[in-house]
Amino acid sequence: MTNDCITIALPKGKLFGLSADLLKKVGFTAEGLSEKSRKLVIENEDARLKFIITKTADVPTYVEYGAADLGIIGKDVILESGKDVYELLDLGFGKCRLMMAVPKDKKRARLEDYSNTRVATKFPHTAEKFFESRGMQMEYIKLNGSIELGPIIGLSESIVDIVETGTTLRENNLEEIVTITEATARLIANRVSYKLKFDRINNLVENLRKELDKG
Ligand code: PRP
Repeated sequence: MTNDCITIALPKGKLFGLSADLLKKVGFTAEGLSEKSRKLVIENEDARLKFIITKTADVPTYVEYGAADLGIIGKDVILESGKDVYELLDLGFGKCRLMMAVPKDKKRARLEDYSNTRVATKFPHTAEKFFESRGMQMEYIKLNGSIELGPIIGLSESIVDIVETGTTLRENNLEEIVTITEATARLIANRVSYKLKFDRINNLVENLRKELDKG
C-alpha cells in the first residue's frame, strides 16, 4: 500500500450500518464490510482503504493516536472522550440527546433538589461538566450499559444517558427532566493525517457533503 492509504475507524453498533452505507455511496467501501462480519480489519487494496471496526467509545482514541486517519462517531462520544481530534463534518444521522432522567414516581420539584445524590451514567465527564455549570455536586456511578437499571433497583437517584426514540425511558417509567446536549454522527480526523493526506481527505469531505445535500 502507498502512503496515502486511508484507515477509517467505524464503531460497532447503531452507527455502523449508516456509516458504511454513506461511505459506500462515495466509493469508500471494501468487500466484506458488514455488520455481520467478525473481522476487525477489512482492506480494499485497490482503493487504498482500510477499515477498522472498534467499540463505540474507542473510535476517538484510535483517531487521536493516528492508528486511524478518520473515524465516524457520535458527538456525545467525542465530548465524553475529551480526545483531541479534528471534527470535519456533521453527518446528520444518529440523532440523539444526552439527558438526565429520574423515576416518574419519585420526581423532585427542581433540578437542584438532586444535589449530592447519585447519578448512574456512561458519560461521567460530560455529566460532571453539566452539573458543575449548575453549581451542583453529584456522585457519579459509571456503568457500561443498561443505565436505566440504576434508579429502578436503587443504585442511583437518576441517570444521565442517551435518548433516541424515548422507548427505553417509557418502558422503564423514567422521565427526562433536563436535556444536556444534542448529538449526531461526525466525521473526525487525526490532526496530522489531515495535513499529510489533505487532498484525499478533503476530496472525501466534499463528496460526502454533496451526498448529504441530496437528502
Ligand atoms: C442506548 C441508550 C439507551 C437507549 C435509548 O442504549 O443508552 O439505553 O439506547 O434509545 P431509545 O430512546 O430509542 O430507547 P444502547 O442500545 O446503545 O445499549 P446500552 O445502553 O446497553 O449500551
